[in-house]
This record gives sequence, C-alpha cells and structure tokens, in this order.
Amino acid sequence: MKIPFGTITITDRAKELIVEALDQKRISSGKLVREFEDGFARLVGAREAVAVSSGTDADILALAVLHDLGAKRGDEVIVPSLSFVATGNAVLHAGFTPVFVDIERDTLNIDHSRIEAAITPRTRAILPVHLMGKPAEMDTINAIAKAHGLLVVEDAAEAHGASYKGRSAGTLADLAAFSTYVAHIITTGEGGVVTTDNEEYGEILRSLRSHGRNCTCKHCILNAGADYCAKRFRGPGGEDVRFTFDRIGYSCKMNELEAAIGIGALEFYREILGKRHQNLLHVLERFDRFAPFLSSIKEEPHEKIGPHAIPIVINEGAPFTRSELTRHLEERGIETRTLFVSMPTQCPGFAPLGYRLGQFPNAEYLGQYGLHIGVHQDLGLEEMDYILNVIDLFLARYR
Ligand SMILES: Cc1ncc(COP(=O)(O)O)c(C=O)c1O
Repeated sequence: MKIPFGTITITDRAKELIVEALDQKRISSGKLVREFEDGFARLVGAREAVAVSSGTDADILALAVLHDLGAKRGDEVIVPSLSFVATGNAVLHAGFTPVFVDIERDTLNIDHSRIEAAITPRTRAILPVHLMGKPAEMDTINAIAKAHGLLVVEDAAEAHGASYKGRSAGTLADLAAFSTYVAHIITTGEGGVVTTDNEEYGEILRSLRSHGRNCTCKHCILNAGADYCAKRFRGPGGEDVRFTFDRIGYSCKMNELEAAIGIGALEFYREILGKRHQNLLHVLERFDRFAPFLSSIKEEPHEKIGPHAIPIVINEGAPFTRSELTRHLEERGIETRTLFVSMPTQCPGFAPLGYRLGQFPNAEYLGQYGLHIGVHQDLGLEEMDYILNVIDLFLARYR
C-alpha cells in the first residue's frame, strides 16, 4: 500500500476556469483571485482575506503591517522555537528580529508560560503557530499581548479547519497567515492568504503585496479587465496613485490560475475536511497502544484540530532511533516527514543569531525524535489501519 504525504484535487470547475482565463489571456491577479478571497473570508469567518503567493509571504505581510503601526526595523517578534523554518524566516524578511520561546512537548505549540519572560521594550508582536493544526493557547497569548500592547498574528499555515473555543483559526488574533501550498487542505498549488477583521489592515496588506502602491481597492476593476479607473488620478495635482508607493512593499500576488484551483477546493472543502478529520482521529484515538514508546497530540474538548497530519514523537528510553522507524515506514510505502527543528539551534541558517544548542530542550527533542505522516482526502480508514498495523509490527520487535 502507498501512503503519500499529500495530494491535490483539481475540480472540473477549476479546470474550466483555468481554460477560460487562458483563452481570455487574463492570468495575473484579477477577478478569480477576488472570488477566491471572498470565498476564503466567508469560510474562515473573517472580514478580509488577502491572497498572496505563499504562506511565507502571508506571514511576512501580516508582520509587515507593524511598520504602519510605528514599529522600527530590528524590533522583536516572539515565535515558537519549533516550526517549519518559514515562520522564523518570515520574521527576518519582514524586517524584525525573531525572539524564540520553547514549545510544549504535548501540544507542540509555544509554551505560553514562557512568553512574558521574552518580552522586552522592543517587542512588537507574538506569532504563535498552530502546529499540525492544533490551536495554540490563544486566550492566554491574547491576554499577554493586550497587557503589553502587542499585535498577535496566527501562523495558521497548517490549521485550515481548526477551531478554538468555538472560533475558527484565522479569527483568533489581529491577523492570521495561511498557506495554500499543495500539502494543505485548501490548496492553490502555491499560495497563501492573510485574514483579518480589520479593514485598515486589509488595505495595508493589498498595498504591501503590490510593491507598497497607494492603490488598495478590494475590487480592482483594472485587474478585472476594465479599461479605465476613475479613482486613479486622485493624487495631488491629479497624479496617478497607482504609481505612488507609500511603503516598502513586496511583490507577491496570487495569479488567476492558482486562484482557480483554490475556488475548486473551496467547493468541496467540507468534504475534504470531514474525511481528513475522521482519518486523523481514527489514528489519534488508537495511539495509546504505542505507549510507552511513541506519543502524539490529543484533541481536547475546547478545540478541533485542523487535520493536517499525524505527528509522532519517539519517547525517551525507546530502544530504537528515528531513522529506524522512518525506514520501516518508508519501506512499507508510508511517506514520512520530520517534525521540523528548533529553528534557532538546529537550523544552520539561523546560526548568526547566536543561540546555543540546549536553550530550547523541548523543540530540540522534537527536532531529533519527531516525525509526521499524511491524512489527506485520498486516504481512508483502511489506510489509517494500515499505518497503525505497520507501526505495531515495528514495535513488536521491542515488546
Ligand atoms: C507553520 C508553517 N508556516 C509557514 C509555512 C509556509 O508556507 P509556504 O510553504 O506556502 O510558503 C508553512 C508551510 O507549510 C508552515 O508549515
């Protein structure tokens, strides 16, 4: 049996929209991107959704809003030490300094009890990650942020369909960043979306994704094919605001072909989500049988985990290595991924920041002993049982 990590479903409607866009020679950001944004905003329950070219760009732009709020380059953003490396990279690309905080072993998320100690006069924001779709402890994080006047941005890249105390990921903070890369539930192939309820942030985000231009309409009629926009020549002396650049911007728009795939994904999102959630819970509810060697996360009553993947952690004292377990799984057709690394201490790219191995024991542990495997919609309970059996077979050698 083959259990690939990810999949992509391109619907007939998506294919029709792609052909239409090609025939009309309208492939750069336009009405399909707008339609995708509207659908995404509705689904998450946020007022604004701004589509960009990757989840990393979504993180960068959400943080770059801070510059409009008076932040200075080099100011600090608190992030969990364990995440996909994009989280830490995004802080640096937005012009800030990441300040890392260790994670909790059982939730995989930022240890909220350590956040206050990391706050300095230069801290401007907290960027919690809902790793593997499990929501971070947002009430506590928002309360800390409020007490210190900080912005909170959810890194919800892996948290499509997650909810916390009845509210969807993407609406749990000031802004949220999703990835729509192919491994995620709503996919556009490559892409990302920032959500927020703040319309002013929405305008800043639309400017940031397009070079910082002073042209921030939610529905751009020029991008949708109109010949003339009466709003353009409203600068002092009738200047063209489309070529006035108010802030240091980026170039990270989503294109129409990507949006078409996303529009298709939105149509059957509930179905995909239901299937993936059923797959994930099927395994998590049976995971205790792997004690004392392996552990995973649990879905608590106050939350719904966004069914991104099954995380697996090899516990202390297990008489085998991660490589031995992953080889056993891969040889039997089950694709594996590591559970990322402690960015500041296990990722060579972050060495110039000067952290030392040993500063983030939980993240470093997962960096050595964690892995994850897929639960996507092309898999079902038969495949989940196969995964359980293949792990049983491996552990039987050590019982
Ligand atoms: C937690 C997290 N943040 C950010 C990203 C970046 O997304 P992308 O690969 O679309 O740039 C990812 C990637 O999946 C991720 O897992």
